[in-house]
Amino acid sequence: SAFLRRLWKGDASPRMLHPRLQKAMRAYLSANKHGVRFRGRRAAGRSRAELLCALRGRVRVRTLDGTEPPFSALGWRALVPAVPLGQLHPRGLRSCAVVTSAGAILNSSLGEEIDSHDAVLRFNSAPTRGYEKDVGNKTTVRIINSQILTNPSHHFIDSSLYKDVILVAWDPAPYSANLNLWYKKPDYNLFTPYVQYRRRNPDQPFYILHPKFIWQLWDIIQENTEEKIQPNPPSSGFIGILLMMTLCREVHVYEYIPSVRQTELCHYHELYRDAACTLGAYHPLLYEKLLVQRLNTGARGDLRRKGKVVLPGLRAARC
Ligand code: C5P
Repeated sequence: SAFLRRLWKGDASPRMLHPRLQKAMRAYLSANKHGVRFRGRRAAGRSRAELLCALRGRVRVRTLDGTEPPFSALGWRALVPAVPLGQLHPRGLRSCAVVTSAGAILNSSLGEEIDSHDAVLRFNSAPTRGYEKDVGNKTTVRIINSQILTNPSHHFIDSSLYKDVILVAWDPAPYSANLNLWYKKPDYNLFTPYVQYRRRNPDQPFYILHPKFIWQLWDIIQENTEEKIQPNPPSSGFIGILLMMTLCREVHVYEYIPSVRQTELCHYHELYRDAACTLGAYHPLLYEKLLVQRLNTGARGDLRRKGKVVLPGLRAARC
């Protein structure tokens, strides 16, 4: 489609989206439910190298470490893993894969390529069983949103999906990143199941992302976009891509920017159809994707055929 070709070139615009999606985006802009106040400066038009250096200078992965209130008084210093997320692989990882849950990955036969990476990141409840040919079967890290921990349908406490992997959870906090406010009124209460899970599985690395990290990523997207983006947190996909860029020397992202297989099928493992899953309504997803496309060093053909973007790690960026 014309839209896809524009997206691959990196110059798609929300004005090309279905009016229903545009209307939803405008509603989120005026609702501003997380109290976002952008104080940064726009720096649109940065080159790939400039963007990479800006990211390297700014992106600091942070997880709750139990040193700040209210968590300090709740004994979280002893509850969180002793080894920080950034130090699990002290010498860094070489090549990593980020596998989105998009329906477009069906019939891709990317499984073998995905499993050949040193580490593989997946999202939420995306399964591998039964889909190995297209998505592979290795999982190193899983990013989960707070609904996974709280919605009984996911069986978070005992499902094997969440075992034997590094877990990284997050929940939309106020833009102010006031931890007391957030603790009292999270979007979904992930704190109780987190404590329960940590007690039962003390040896499994399991972190909660710090709201400052989430909103720092949002600031970076807004800074590098001419238009006003939705004042809501970036998608798990963007969070995962940036996390892996800090941990790995090279990051291969699959079906984030859609391939020729683009479909309205939201997830490869569900029948639900909604174009918002790929193009965004709540999350500033289209803007995230345009930013990621600007960083892409992969081949044109890989983008079209595999939906693959190749990104350099931030440690190696020469600035
Ligand atoms: O829907 P969910 O958040 O679990 O999917 C994981 C991530 O994959 C999303 O946050 C989004 O970045 C990406 N995704 C996508 N297109 C889809 C479905 C998911 O880009 N159709």
